[in-house]
Amino acid sequence: MKRPEDDPHTTTDSGIRVQSDEHSLTVGPDGPIVLHDHYLLEQMANFNRERIPERQPHAKGSGAFGTFETTQDVSRYTKAKIFQPGAKCDVVARFSTVAGERGSPDTWRDPRGFSVKMYTEDGNFDMVGNNTPIFFVRDPMKFQHFIRSQKRRADNDMRDHDMQWDFWTLSPESAHQVTYLMGDRGIPKNWREMNGYSSHTYSLVNEQGEKFWVKFHFHTDQGDGNAYLSQDEADTLAGSDGDYHRRDLFNAIRDGNHPSWTLKWQIMPYEDAKTYHLNPFDLTKVWPHDDYPLIEVGKLVLNRNPTDFHTQIEQAAFEINNMVPGVGLSPDKMLLARGFSYADAHRARLGVNYKEIPVNKARVPVHSYSKDGAGRTENVSDPVYAPNSYGGPSAQPATHEAGLWHTDGDMVRQAYTLREDDDDWSQAGALVRDVMDEAARARLVSNVVGHLCDGVSEKVLQRAFAYWRNVDRDTGDKIEAGVREKLGGASEAPGMASAESISGKRAAE
Ligand code: HEM
Repeated sequence: MKRPEDDPHTTTDSGIRVQSDEHSLTVGPDGPIVLHDHYLLEQMANFNRERIPERQPHAKGSGAFGTFETTQDVSRYTKAKIFQPGAKCDVVARFSTVAGERGSPDTWRDPRGFSVKMYTEDGNFDMVGNNTPIFFVRDPMKFQHFIRSQKRRADNDMRDHDMQWDFWTLSPESAHQVTYLMGDRGIPKNWREMNGYSSHTYSLVNEQGEKFWVKFHFHTDQGDGNAYLSQDEADTLAGSDGDYHRRDLFNAIRDGNHPSWTLKWQIMPYEDAKTYHLNPFDLTKVWPHDDYPLIEVGKLVLNRNPTDFHTQIEQAAFEINNMVPGVGLSPDKMLLARGFSYADAHRARLGVNYKEIPVNKARVPVHSYSKDGAGRTENVSDPVYAPNSYGGPSAQPATHEAGLWHTDGDMVRQAYTLREDDDDWSQAGALVRDVMDEAARARLVSNVVGHLCDGVSEKVLQRAFAYWRNVDRDTGDKIEAGVREKLGGASEAPGMASAESISGKRAAE
């Protein structure tokens, strides 16, 4: 609501001055309200329509505005204008939890979303990533089921650890991400001190037409990186300050303490993907840094808070398909499916013309043939079809490659072809043994024990112990001992799964 100096009057939404902010129009001071009190009706009707559907996953979050600048010369990998030396653009970024609703506490254990929209000269480029370099599942068919298992039950609308572990232990490909989730990354100290990752493999193409595969890593410049809260600290904060992370980012930017991240790339030569010992498009795997070291690219800085959360953050629409010439998709099945899902979610949540909302609007002229629809504000002019002979815009096939890879094969419903080292446990085990130190491993065990002791059935517990032994035998043993001690030694239920029955080697599905 604006109160300009020269006209402090309240008006209706049509700009007509209103008579009272406090009193409805009535027949005498004690009489009934009349239907022609248009301002009262407008206030009530608007109020009833203030809430829009929240995002299905990632409903709780916040964000800020800033800039991205390419500080290094990476032009040998891509022709994207924003990744040429010295190129700079405005950005909006949003951080979020996954499973909680819009009002849920920031400090619940969950991966954190890390979305960045760059308003580039080539149009908008969005990276919709997480604070972990990998994900729970590798086939989009399982994503909806996965999210349902993390949200609420049908009968009592409560979250349920049994359902979460049931899904995870029946989906061994989740082990790597669940290890991250149950470790320190599951509860960041704040958003400023966490990293962001594309997680997926994308493609790049340079001016000469040479192709590369790439993973994006945004490394925090604050502190030592990936700072965390203990489970106890997080539980306390969930009760005392549900907006803890949101407040931290807002206050830091307000006080001139502008967080920044260094963008780094892992580059894989195009031909390597054919023979690499891991499937480089499998979203549950990282590329070892020894094979593909990080290359510095540029700097992301957040320096401006939103002034209207609803229009600037809640209505922000990040989508995988916002990709600019020089950056492209890859054969990662999850990435390809996300190309449909996000734009569809935005149409459902914000309406078909959501790209006209200022936060989503490209900073370059838009010449599409889209027309009409609810809420359109941009004028459309003739001709409204292509091809035409009346001077309408025409596409230029050479500017953007539709796909940067070759594919050929029968139509199947099958998992990726297995490679030499494609199993579900090794990278999770390496994370536990080689990346975590003794103290971090102890926190992992304690977090898992606490989680498993909260309503998980014996049948699922058995599978969970086997799951963790497959990740790391010692960790699995400690988790089982911890759970048994806490629960007082519950007995085995009939029909439970044995360690061997959860195979990390995938058979063709
Ligand atoms: C949000 C679908 C995988 C990160 C969303 C939304 C949908 C969705 C429908 C809500 C969008 C909105 O209403 O604005 C999917 C599907 C996936 C998938 C179908 C797999 C097939 C992933 C993965 C990541 C991810 C692998 C991270 C690497 C995010 C983030 C948001 C989000 C960060 C919040 C975006 C924002 O800040 O507005 N996802 N998702 N998703 N997803 Fe996914």
